[in-house]
Amino acid sequence: MKLEWKAVSKFYGRKKAVDTFSLEAGEGELLVIIGPSGCGKTTVLKMINRLVRPDEGVVLVEGENIAHLPAAVHRRRIGYSIQQVGLFPHLNIADNIASVPRLLKWNKKRIAQRTRELLNLVGLPPDQYAEAWPNRLSGGEAQRVGVARALAADPPILLMDEPFGAVDPLTRETLQREFLRIQSELGKTVVFVTHDLDEAVRLGDRIAVMNKGRLVLAATPDKLLLDSDPFVREFTGDDRALKRLACIRIADINMTEPILNPAGTQFSISENSSLKDALSLMLEERQLQLDVIESAGKVVGRITVNDLLAQAEGA
Ligand SMILES: Nc1ncnc2c1ncn2[C@@H]1O[C@H](COP(=O)(O)OP(=O)(O)OP(=O)(O)O)[C@@H](O)[C@H]1O
Ligand SMILES: [Mg+2]
Repeated sequence: MKLEWKAVSKFYGRKKAVDTFSLEAGEGELLVIIGPSGCGKTTVLKMINRLVRPDEGVVLVEGENIAHLPAAVHRRRIGYSIQQVGLFPHLNIADNIASVPRLLKWNKKRIAQRTRELLNLVGLPPDQYAEAWPNRLSGGEAQRVGVARALAADPPILLMDEPFGAVDPLTRETLQREFLRIQSELGKTVVFVTHDLDEAVRLGDRIAVMNKGRLVLAATPDKLLLDSDPFVREFTGDDRALKRLACIRIADINMTEPILNPAGTQFSISENSSLKDALSLMLEERQLQLDVIESAGKVVGRITVNDLLAQAEGA
């Protein structure tokens, strides 16, 4: 489903928390919103499910002004995983996940099946977790339950507010990988809020950068990391060129022809690796070039330091 914020603003007292913000998320797109604390990310997200009403402008879903729709009908299309998870402490895990299906009056059997399916999907074995209480979960487990709960009624739209904020970097990477896998299967329209740039680059089809209630830029990760806007540059950090190499696959660039002797170069790397991985291996092995191999091990090309330099210029 297509979403659109059309020149929305929100005032709290005299403060403009959101300032004439316009942006679209296309069908099946994973749109990341990023920006410093207090810049308006959560407020913009909550406008989609009408927890916040814009003072100016409109929000459209499939081209329809959501202010004109019955709230219950509208919210049924939306899964929401809130900042700080917010599991219901008096309900066990299964009942937490089942809260929306129950509101929708699904029958018991269907709810039980769906709950098990979701627990499996987010990597929490149902036999171990369904009956458990929220207070015994680790931060990462609780966040998975939050995601499962948002997915429960299979809504076409998913709003996720820093869903992986509370966990260590390793667990976070695992959750991100799982989420990308789930999203590639389900193809929802996702608005994902974070203030972690690496997470944004890893997950986003597009990234919207906000500052002080305004949209600064919305672009693919690749374009964002090449952008010259001073705020964007400060926000993306001094290692933005490396971050950009991390989001380009070797297979997606014009490689150098392979060396046509049986030995080739001394070291090889998979075509599915990123340019950052290639650079890292070159540094580690003190090589100016690597053979590039496909999954069966056949050499399909060569990547050289010059190929990396060409990419760094945004060629
Ligand atoms: N209900 C409210 N009443 C008054 N001010 C509010 C309210 N909700 C948000 N604000 C203010 O609006 C601004 C934007 O808040 P918002 O929660 O959207 O920020 P955020 O980008 O999500 O921040 P964070 O990264 O810390 O979660 C902040 O200055 C906040 O203090
Ligand atoms: Mg927030």
